Amino acid sequence: MTPGTAPRPILRIEGLNAHIAGQQVVEDVSFTVPTTGITALLGRNGVGKTSTIKAIIGLIDRSGVVELDGVRVEKEPTYKIIRSGVGYVPEDREVFSKLTVAENLRLAERDAAPRRQLVEELFPDLLARSGQMAGTLSGGQQQMVSLARALLNTNKILLVDEPTKGLAPKIVAEVAETLAEAAKTVPILLVEQNLQVVRQLAAGAVVLSGGRVVHTGNALDFLNDDGLTQRLLGVSTETAPHEKGAAL
Ligand SMILES: Nc1ncnc2c1ncn2[C@@H]1O[C@H](COP(=O)(O)OP(=O)(O)OP(=O)(O)O)[C@@H](O)[C@H]1O
Ligand SMILES: [Mg+2]
Repeated sequence: MTPGTAPRPILRIEGLNAHIAGQQVVEDVSFTVPTTGITALLGRNGVGKTSTIKAIIGLIDRSGVVELDGVRVEKEPTYKIIRSGVGYVPEDREVFSKLTVAENLRLAERDAAPRRQLVEELFPDLLARSGQMAGTLSGGQQQMVSLARALLNTNKILLVDEPTKGLAPKIVAEVAETLAEAAKTVPILLVEQNLQVVRQLAAGAVVLSGGRVVHTGNALDFLNDDGLTQRLLGVSTETAPHEKGAAL
């Protein structure tokens, strides 16, 4: 790195466009994800957060630049992008419900030396449940399986889509804690609607509206700007009860 220049981001997206069923769902999206920490991808329902993640790894038709660790990958097929070091934790978890926890994890191992010890340390509860069918786990436990699957491999970045969706507050806190630990080992692009979790975890924020980027910057600065969060997310962070520590 030349002195005085910003470090190269782990992921650079430029002019990303994507279509689903003839409708443009991602429009001229550009942002970067730094090599460390958690970057939040925010926006109301249906603005194109999941589509952006899918477009990055080529799961939906797209055009534009996708640069991973300085290498252009947008012409590569999905499996090559994934193999070059992208861990994807999809919305709604997607574990194999009729397989055990151990089988789910074993199927996810891609590297010659999967990081089983890290996963065992991060997810002691899963270790205790290794023989249990994944479909009989709670939502939070399934989310842990999904995260563990991505963390078994050495990745350049994780793309994690709404990991706390539909979980009880206590479990949300556990998932957030696990993400914080995971982020010490790999940068994460995190789609998250729970702003308390964003506040706890994210350094940077990218906000989408109508398939376009409408704001990028420091996550806390964004969350502390009540007018901006109200306008772009339709929520007031000033009055959110969990922000004030009030009973739910
Ligand atoms: N398979 C599909 N067929 C048709 N339209 C789709 C499909 N998937 C997504 N869309 C549309 O694309 C747009 C973006 O959806 P996307 O799932 O990316 O939004 P999102 O920001 O992830 O929303 P949410 O917060 O609800 O998860 C929405 O208008 C959605 O209705
Ligand atoms: Mg989504």
